[in-house]
Amino acid sequence: MDGGHCRVYAVVNQKGGVGKSVTSTNLGIGLARHGRKVLIADLDSQASQTISLGWPRPDELTCTIATQLGKIIENKPIDPLKGILRHAEGVDLLPSSIELSGLEMRMVNAFERERALRSLLAEIRPGYDAIILDCPPTLGMMTVNALAAADRVIVPVQPEYLSVIGMTQLFDTVALIKKHINPGLQIKGVLITLANMRTNLARNTLAIIKEAYGGSVRIFGQPIPYATKIKEASVAGKSVFAYEPNGSAAFAYEKLVQSNQNTLRRDRGNGAVLADRLTAVPYDEKCPGNAGGQDRYFGTVQSFEERKGRRVF
Ligand SMILES: Nc1ncnc2c1ncn2[C@@H]1O[C@H](COP(=O)(O)OP(=O)(O)O)[C@@H](O)[C@H]1O
Ligand SMILES: [Mg+2]
Repeated sequence: MDGGHCRVYAVVNQKGGVGKSVTSTNLGIGLARHGRKVLIADLDSQASQTISLGWPRPDELTCTIATQLGKIIENKPIDPLKGILRHAEGVDLLPSSIELSGLEMRMVNAFERERALRSLLAEIRPGYDAIILDCPPTLGMMTVNALAAADRVIVPVQPEYLSVIGMTQLFDTVALIKKHINPGLQIKGVLITLANMRTNLARNTLAIIKEAYGGSVRIFGQPIPYATKIKEASVAGKSVFAYEPNGSAAFAYEKLVQSNQNTLRRDRGNGAVLADRLTAVPYDEKCPGNAGGQDRYFGTVQSFEERKGRRVF
């Protein structure tokens, strides 16, 4: 098995605080709850995903995504599963640390710098059904690497006017990567997050998003509500499914999971074998999380390009 059964999702928006990390956590754990073997990769040098999943001192980890990518760009051999941690809710995590920002600087002059993550994932994919790339809030080197490595893009957007403006730049970047580096890249959909749909502002902004992009890109039907429980779940190192299983946030994220899980193939290849090689990470009581069909694809970047002339912004 060459990892062709595995689907790589990039959760992307250059704006911070729109729910990328929360969406990565809950999509990943949600898919794992359906029996999928899932890896979440933290691509942000601020390591908020790593910290919120239960590793509060990422700089003390001996192997992170920065270590692995450093070896790739230096053309050194890697053990692809090294550094991967296991969360109590059944997902694996490829952690990040501040070292990643130094690595991004080193990558600037590296050969094939946009494809470093793709090379790393080529070796990791066979062990997983889905890999979720939690991107940093920029369109810089790591996001470009994520788009070069991904099969599908999920764009969390807060229904606020300023969030909408950045979407054009984001879609243009996706289109460029698709054209030059990764022809298989597709936008899976725009996910409305932190939504308080009772306000006129949110409703109006959603209408603008639908008007501007709805014809070319899928907008997931179920917005993720603004919910204090989501913040609390992050602090507790848990998914919304574990924290408040019957809440509105769990319901909304389950809808997102459902729309993706149907598209993953059941064939897990030699995933189980590879996954068994993972060394158990010692459980730390102080770290909450630490435990050691049919593709309903609605739009392509191409079709976005085609309608660019009608751009609203
Ligand atoms: N739907 C939501 N309701 C309430 N708070 C949320 C929601 N989604 C995310 N948050 C909180 O908002 C902040 C930013 O979310 P995060 O996922 O870290 O954004 P990003 O990764 O895009 O920077 C975090 O404190 C998170 O707990
Ligand atoms: Mg984040």
